[in-house]
Amino acid sequence: MISQLTAATIRSGAAEAAPRPDDHVIVLFGATGDLAKRKLLPGLFHLAAAGLMPDKYEIIGSSRRGMTDEQFRELARQAAAEFGNTKPEGEAWQAFEPRLSFASAEPGRTAELSAAIERAKRQIGGTPGRLFHLAVPPAAFEPTVTMLGDAGLAPGSRIIIEKPFGTDLASARKLNDTLHGIFDESQIFRIDHFLGKESVDNILAFRFANGLFEPVWNRKHISYVQIDVPETLSIEGRADFYDQTGAYRDMIVTHLFQVLGFVAMEPPTSFDARHLRDETAKVFDALMPLDPGHMVRGQYAGYAGEPGVAAGSPTETMAAVRAEIDNWRWAGVPFLLRSGKSLAASRQQVTLGFHKPPLRMFPADAAGAPNGRRNEITIDFADPGSITISFLAKEPGPAMRLRPARMVFRYDVSFRGANSLEGYERLLLDAMLGDQSLFTSSDSIERLWEISAPVLDNPPPVQPYAPGSWGPQPAVDRLAAPYHWHLPDVVSSS
Ligand code: BG6
Repeated sequence: MISQLTAATIRSGAAEAAPRPDDHVIVLFGATGDLAKRKLLPGLFHLAAAGLMPDKYEIIGSSRRGMTDEQFRELARQAAAEFGNTKPEGEAWQAFEPRLSFASAEPGRTAELSAAIERAKRQIGGTPGRLFHLAVPPAAFEPTVTMLGDAGLAPGSRIIIEKPFGTDLASARKLNDTLHGIFDESQIFRIDHFLGKESVDNILAFRFANGLFEPVWNRKHISYVQIDVPETLSIEGRADFYDQTGAYRDMIVTHLFQVLGFVAMEPPTSFDARHLRDETAKVFDALMPLDPGHMVRGQYAGYAGEPGVAAGSPTETMAAVRAEIDNWRWAGVPFLLRSGKSLAASRQQVTLGFHKPPLRMFPADAAGAPNGRRNEITIDFADPGSITISFLAKEPGPAMRLRPARMVFRYDVSFRGANSLEGYERLLLDAMLGDQSLFTSSDSIERLWEISAPVLDNPPPVQPYAPGSWGPQPAVDRLAAPYHWHLPDVVSSS
């Protein structure tokens, strides 16, 4: 159940009331990589410090190259110090550190890892759960899965697979076939960390826990939806991964479409994994194949000169698409999705724009409400997250003059002091609990690659853009017309 842990427990700070996973051996493949350092090791430590890890657990880091337990512990300590919210010190770190160990492995050489898993099991006692996290480059997914099968480590285990899951429909199917040859679907956790973000989960609460919003959440009232994730950061030394992947595969077909699933779904029968995944799958089934004429690809000036990028690389560092959902709720409403590197600002936002009222009775101050920003709901899902409702209000004074106004909910103000989890932390916990609600199913992923085929087979040309801009113009603005890309002002925390 999605609600088991979040609203009632973590956010009220009552972590001790949350369900705790059974004892676990966690094996982290790619343990020396960027993702492990930035998110996974600091995240596991935060879970431990918050009292949310199992009573007994062991974490085994693994990669091709060897490392001593002490070196791995030091790597984890530095990662938590640099990237974690909870600093590696005091009793919490002292309790966590000895549970870290390291064992190298690669296809055909798994004895060291198997021995380390056996050791960890003995240390814990009983029959602990086993969780493999594949934080490895996409090309290593299949060899690692096969390796686990060959080493006899699959039965009774769970496996977390990172994104992107395949590069197109054929490769996603192949990867699913390999996985299903070794693991049952109930053991497979395809992770998309955007679905673990508090404010993304809150879309479900916002829509389905209130009688206020859901009745207007459809084509009769909404004229456009935007899911906008511009980033100011560039590829930051990730050329090997990024140049093979590009903005569409890195962000849009993964994170942005998953968010779209939550924004657009019908009310699920319940929030358990099956119902939630069924409703997301129905949204994806209703998506129209993407039209290359409704896509913009951009590359920031200077990208081709980044270390590790192939000369004359055609990879896009920004992509925007206009998607359509062909069902009763959304027919005719454009869903505008955009993400890219080296853009003008960093935001993670869903915006729903409402139709204008049928009669204009008041002279609105057009200059005061730019870009049609009169009636919008904006969900900012970058941590800590906020929701803003923009509307028009009468300016005080004798004349009936309207000005833009807004109502704002801010997570960090309304739930000050609550113990929130980052996307990865929440999902690691859910995987240990065996809860697949926020993980993607094989059918959904394959469907997203299917609707992507036209733009992958015939991509529009890449257009250059200046770093720090909003992408190639006028193409980006034209894609949204007659609407506008919405980036509201930063909501002040005061
Ligand atoms: C990752 C992408 O999945 O998500 C990155 O590979 C992107 O390119 C990142 O920057 C954004 O996630 P977050 O949660 O760190 O904002």
